[in-house]
Amino acid sequence: MNLPTAILPPDAGGFAKPVDWLFWGLTGLSALVVFGLVVVIGFFLIKYRRNSPATHTAAETSIGLEITWTAIPLLAFTVIFALGASTYLKMASPPDDALEIYVTGRQWMWEFYRDDGPTELAQLHVPAGTPIRLTMISEDVIHSFYVPALRMKHDLVPGRYVTAWFEAEKPGTYPIYCAEYCGDQHSQMRGKLVVMPPADYARWLEQGNAKPTLAARGQQLYHDHGCSGCHEAGSTVHAPSLNRLYGSVVHIQDGTSVQADAAYIRDSILLPQKQIVAGYDDVMPSFDGQIGEDDLFALIAYLKSRADNPR
Ligand code: CUA
Repeated sequence: MNLPTAILPPDAGGFAKPVDWLFWGLTGLSALVVFGLVVVIGFFLIKYRRNSPATHTAAETSIGLEITWTAIPLLAFTVIFALGASTYLKMASPPDDALEIYVTGRQWMWEFYRDDGPTELAQLHVPAGTPIRLTMISEDVIHSFYVPALRMKHDLVPGRYVTAWFEAEKPGTYPIYCAEYCGDQHSQMRGKLVVMPPADYARWLEQGNAKPTLAARGQQLYHDHGCSGCHEAGSTVHAPSLNRLYGSVVHIQDGTSVQADAAYIRDSILLPQKQIVAGYDDVMPSFDGQIGEDDLFALIAYLKSRADNPR
């Protein structure tokens, strides 16, 4: 069954269908309730108008009636909650095989990076029918990554990664907006999502594959910032090996453990005091203020490549 499309933005697949169903379901239900209320109010206005022959004394309360009008809204809200929560949970859990794309927002530009392809400004090319996971951060103020065709909107906050995912089904070009007021050119902070058939995407990737890749740039930074001086075998400093770090479980001095994901690596570089690895006493100096968000993504991509192909 097709939903009314004239009012809503185009639908690029992904979560558009379930979100639209929720939207029209809630709108329809609300309209029904409003209509019912207006009819009942009108009926009683006329029936109990001044000087009408109807009895004006209060009716007896009825336990059956009380239960009915408590149970019906309760049931309706439970169904709405269940449908909303299941869609939300799906949106919040990216599949493991998703293609990773890193996003930075800054006044007033979107920038997209990927492990195996070119960096893009204000444009994001993705293959259709492939889950895409976005790891996003702001470099200055709060922005909001908004793609109406995917019914997707996520705030980008400075200082921490937020993740989101989508799977676009229909090839085409769809607008990207910033949906959080972020300064005087907020309205110009736009971009384009280009969804391509997988074969076209592979060709696009090949053509535009500017060397070096993000991971290769990360490797260069790894040496430039002196990471290799302590973290490589043979160094005099006792620092953890970073081979196979990405995705592994790290034991922290306080007895907890964390999974070494993008956020963990970013924190370890900028806030080394926050989580000292068990068995290590010396804490690395913080690199806060010395490495930009795009370089952090490059370092993460490099460490990820070392987890896939350890040296
Ligand atoms: Cu960025 Cu509004």
